[in-house]
Amino acid sequence: MVSAGVNFGVDLAEEIAELKRERNAVILAHNYQAPELQDIADYVGDSLGLSYQAARTDADVILFCGVHFMAETAKILNPTRKVLLPDVDAGCSLSESCPPEKLKGFLEKHADKNYYVIAYINCSAGVKALSDVICTSGNAEKIVRSAPADRNILFVPDQNLGAWVMERTGRKMDLWQGNCYIHVEFTARSINKIREQYPNAPVVAHPECTYGVRLLADEVCSTEKMIAYCRETPAREIIIVTEAGMLHRLKKEIPGKLFIPGPTDNCFCGECRFMKMNTLEKAHAALLNMQPEIILPEAIRKRAEAPILRMLEISK
Ligand code: 13P
Ligand code: SF4
Repeated sequence: MVSAGVNFGVDLAEEIAELKRERNAVILAHNYQAPELQDIADYVGDSLGLSYQAARTDADVILFCGVHFMAETAKILNPTRKVLLPDVDAGCSLSESCPPEKLKGFLEKHADKNYYVIAYINCSAGVKALSDVICTSGNAEKIVRSAPADRNILFVPDQNLGAWVMERTGRKMDLWQGNCYIHVEFTARSINKIREQYPNAPVVAHPECTYGVRLLADEVCSTEKMIAYCRETPAREIIIVTEAGMLHRLKKEIPGKLFIPGPTDNCFCGECRFMKMNTLEKAHAALLNMQPEIILPEAIRKRAEAPILRMLEISK
């Protein structure tokens, strides 16, 4: 039995492991989580991989080490499980840029367009409930290619990912003007500068980066595909242009190579303040107290589930 207070004499990770057994819990963590959280997780991955894991788990409790929309997606997909988020305030600037009521108003105002709405998974359940299909950075191209040819597409909320998918598919879309406050900090200037230092290192960038950065990249992909690219490339040094948490898994799984964090113009640390709100202490407290728990009104959950299931079906 685990004590109620945090015993600093005992390894917190061990206490979490014991609580996990008692609660029949599974720990899912995003690639941007702090190293100590990635290290206690049963699965670490990108938004797509985490969605599949959440949908198929038979654990009673899902401790989701990620941000709010990710834990919410787990609850939407597996409503009979208890879903815990270590810090309930772990949000996302991209998700916040598209409030459901604003999207609803926009769709009503432009009803004549009869939009087919493709929502990047970085959005709230309310926005998912207004969408036709969801995508992640790992399957956005496939999802856009599968959209009905005779419909106008509205892509929300990330304008950079949307623009990248337009370039890849040639499909015209109207783009919601949202962005990730972390990924827009990388600039063509900062990437060119680091390239001078490491001329042989390929640049791998997340599609949430701006056009100028994507143009300079050798590979643009989701965080999970970054792992595969870095494993397979013969390069020994690789510049990684995304949130800094990504470096932990790369170093751990591909030990022989040097991973250089993409710099910005502003000596910016490259850490998402929302992702880093979760800590080992908060993960421990969440399993001990069985909260903060993600609760959703059933009507919203059901409406949000359909476009996510459509995505999982298309990207199988
Ligand atoms: P991935 O799905 O590629 O991991 O991206 C999630 C995210 O929040 C990027 O900022
Ligand atoms: Fe949201 Fe950007 Fe943080 Fe990803 S890195 S969770 S898109 S704010």
